[in-house]
Amino acid sequence: MSTYLYIAAAVLFILGIKRLGKVKTARSGNQVAALGMLVALIGVLVEAKVLDWTMASIALGIGTVIGVLLATRVQMTSMPELVAAFNGLGGAASALVAAVELYDKSKESTLASQDTMVATTVPLSILIGTATLSGSAVAYFKLAGKPFPHPFKGALRNLSHVALVLGIVYASYWSATSMGAEADTAMIVLLVLSTIAGVFLVTPIGGADMPVVVALLNSLSGVAAAASGFVIANQMLIVAGALVGASGLILTQIMCKAMNRSLGNVLIGGVGDGAVAADAREYHNIKKTSSEEVAMLLDGATSCVIVPGYGLAVAQAQHTCANLAKELESRGVDVRYAIHPVAGRMPGHMNVLLAEADVPYDKLWEMERINSEFENTDVVVIVGANDVVNPLAREKTGSPIDGMPILDVDKARTVVMIKRSLSPGYAGCRNPLFDHENTLMVFEDAKAALQGMLDELKEM
Ligand code: TAP
Repeated sequence: MSTYLYIAAAVLFILGIKRLGKVKTARSGNQVAALGMLVALIGVLVEAKVLDWTMASIALGIGTVIGVLLATRVQMTSMPELVAAFNGLGGAASALVAAVELYDKSKESTLASQDTMVATTVPLSILIGTATLSGSAVAYFKLAGKPFPHPFKGALRNLSHVALVLGIVYASYWSATSMGAEADTAMIVLLVLSTIAGVFLVTPIGGADMPVVVALLNSLSGVAAAASGFVIANQMLIVAGALVGASGLILTQIMCKAMNRSLGNVLIGGVGDGAVAADAREYHNIKKTSSEEVAMLLDGATSCVIVPGYGLAVAQAQHTCANLAKELESRGVDVRYAIHPVAGRMPGHMNVLLAEADVPYDKLWEMERINSEFENTDVVVIVGANDVVNPLAREKTGSPIDGMPILDVDKARTVVMIKRSLSPGYAGCRNPLFDHENTLMVFEDAKAALQGMLDELKEM
């Protein structure tokens, strides 16, 4: 019975992931995958026969209530941190499964004499699971804009990483070959070193490279789950973990491509550490304007591209933005949205926001497709985006965004940039676009500025 349920769950997971690949079908993909998880859980309960159904139903009920409360109450701006927390908890759960197995086996004999598979996958699961937990905790703070610097710099940093790897290899061997109290000590050492490994993995990552790390942590949580599936010989856990691991790895690759960097370069390169550049607020040619003036500009335009960024999420301006676009369209302006793959703070952040405001999917243009359109665009309205339109990325300056493909908004006839101040974006770099001849700055909260433009247009 459980085998059939596992097959059904695996099919639902694969269908869910396939649907998640397209904006149009992503919502239903999520629901299909969630149904797969329910079927998998029932399969595990049928197979394990350890819990009675009343207890299982109560646990499922509690989990459902927590999930619904989290999903409905979390602020859109806190979603990236929630995703980081989910990754971390997934890793922690896998490490716990492996730790329980290690505790059981080491009472009687060494892990190695029990089963080679268990002996290798228990330390692996503890290592990856714990590193995912601590790495995700650091990512949680970094995504919330809190600095988390690496304790060492330069050669000392590399040396500490090599020492850590050697220590982990030894502790893994020790935990797999010792018994009783010694095995417990070995596991504690492995836990501590793995925790440090997660912290050291994420702390040196520069601000703009965080999308790569978030995707990698997601993948690692899947690998940890697959490893613990081998530990307890549960095919469902292996399949589910492998799917998360593989899809997370694909996402990591997509994010690396979006940043134009290799994974090795992101992890070892240590480009930028979240510090704000000394010249980040030095500008000499700022042209300030108002919502009213922008409304007049838009009234005379035939084409407009809206570039949403993290500030759109902060201001919760997606509905106002969609209303402004509708108003412009009713006046014959061709309106499109330019979506950068790392805009916001989580993969697909802008798509999720704009879907919430019922913006039609065919209005969302990806970077590769829209970049050649900017030179024929009358007005670009940048709503709380900064790094993803920063021309500094095209220059060789050694900045944290060096080489990152950007939206070439500076090629448009006029660029309107809505943000509250001259503050830099997440990567902490100066943005020469502010000083550009064609750029007009609206220093206001995005929602208020867009509403001002909409009100003015309606009065015209
Ligand atoms: P950012 O470069 O972070 O810039 C956002 C801008 O929004 C800021 O300059 C800020 O300026 C403005 N802003 C904030 N609140 C606002 C409000 N209420 N109204 C108007 N403006 C507001 O955003 P981006 O261009 O979307 O780039 C994303 C960055 O985050 C990239 O560096 C990316 O690598 C990184 N990142 C992305 C992800 C994923 S997976 N997408 C994950 C982690 C990190 P003011 O303060 O002056 O208003």
